[in-house]
Amino acid sequence: MTNWKLAARADKMNPSVLREILKVAERPGVISLAGGLPSPATFPVAAFAAACATVLANDGAAALQYAASEGYGPLRQAVADMLPWEVDPAQVLITTGSQQGLDLVAKVLLDAGSRVLVETPTYLGALQAFSPMEPQAVAVASDDGGVMVEDMVARARGSAGEEAARFIYLLPNFQNPTGRTMDEARRAAVSAAAAAANLPIVEDNPYGDLWFDEAPPLPLTARNPEGCIYLGSFSKVLAPGLRLGFLVAPKAIYPKLLQAKQAVDLHTPIFTQRMVCEVIRDGFLERHVPTIRALYKRQRDAMVAALRREMEGLDVSFELPVGGMFLWARMPAGIDTTALLPLAVERGVAFVPGAPFHADGHGDARTLRLSFVTASVEQIDIAIAALAATLREQLAHNAAAQVQRELAAAH
Ligand SMILES: Cc1ncc(COP(=O)(O)O)c(C=O)c1O
Repeated sequence: MTNWKLAARADKMNPSVLREILKVAERPGVISLAGGLPSPATFPVAAFAAACATVLANDGAAALQYAASEGYGPLRQAVADMLPWEVDPAQVLITTGSQQGLDLVAKVLLDAGSRVLVETPTYLGALQAFSPMEPQAVAVASDDGGVMVEDMVARARGSAGEEAARFIYLLPNFQNPTGRTMDEARRAAVSAAAAAANLPIVEDNPYGDLWFDEAPPLPLTARNPEGCIYLGSFSKVLAPGLRLGFLVAPKAIYPKLLQAKQAVDLHTPIFTQRMVCEVIRDGFLERHVPTIRALYKRQRDAMVAALRREMEGLDVSFELPVGGMFLWARMPAGIDTTALLPLAVERGVAFVPGAPFHADGHGDARTLRLSFVTASVEQIDIAIAALAATLREQLAHNAAAQVQRELAAAH
């Protein structure tokens, strides 16, 4: 057998902790509230079938040819038109999912040892995208309203002798994993403080369109476009299998991101880009996205109602998400959600333990993330009842163990 010598960076490429944890959830019959999968009921299959035929009939050869690394011109224009601030399409780079945007940003902005600031908790996929560059991910204190300004500024500067942080990675809308949203006042404060501290912001906004009652405040990038890179995605408003996203970058840094992209995949599949352009022509998203919002809101309501009903009398708390796909909950004292997961799977429900989402390794073991969009309302009811039963059983077990310990101590 060949004794392969791997690059040092390969050591940093760990399997997603979540993927490992979730293998246990792959059992047939288990209702998964774990994955981050959009509801397949929202995928506009017929619109894609029609668009696919049109693109092949009208531009078949061009759709199958190599294309520009920046992306398909009309799609870059459509993205610029969609965004709520003045965007020059020349600043739009079409990416192979916003996950690729994270990879490009890391390649262009991070050296080994660079400090990158992240929320507590944060999107694991971002930590995974950054880690091959061997940076130091620094967790900034966060509350229900997102990242806390004072701690952000202190950590941006670093301690004596440390280089300033290269950027802060933020998810102001319906964050993954907590579902939380940054309000207007916090956005204004974060934006002003980051600009004053010369701290670039990488703003990731794949869920921003999935609001339930009112649209979230303006993105951070809209307030200071020169100080921010903005990442967007078609995964949650059309379909994730397209692998289609985009970034908007200041003109000074755009060429570097473009060169990084060229090295990775030359360009994002042009067939897909042309097809999406065809689908979203004539205001399709304005008609389609409200149907996703309505569906996800119904499912969120079902989950919240089920939690209130089934967790009655248990010390379970959760944040009410006002958009997106996720609900973040905290279990009673004595519950470690990583240990709880296999027991819950036995009873037919899977969730994601919360601790791994923390860059500093000090996650709260009582937290977990539930997705309310992949399972149906009926399944949500069954799954939350199963979760409550698992919790009650585990609490009873803990109480019995405590009595045993006390008895043993008394003897
Ligand atoms: C916060 C966040 N950023 C980026 C992504 C990646 O999305 P995409 O499908 O556009 O690559 C996800 C996917 O779940 C996500 O939750």
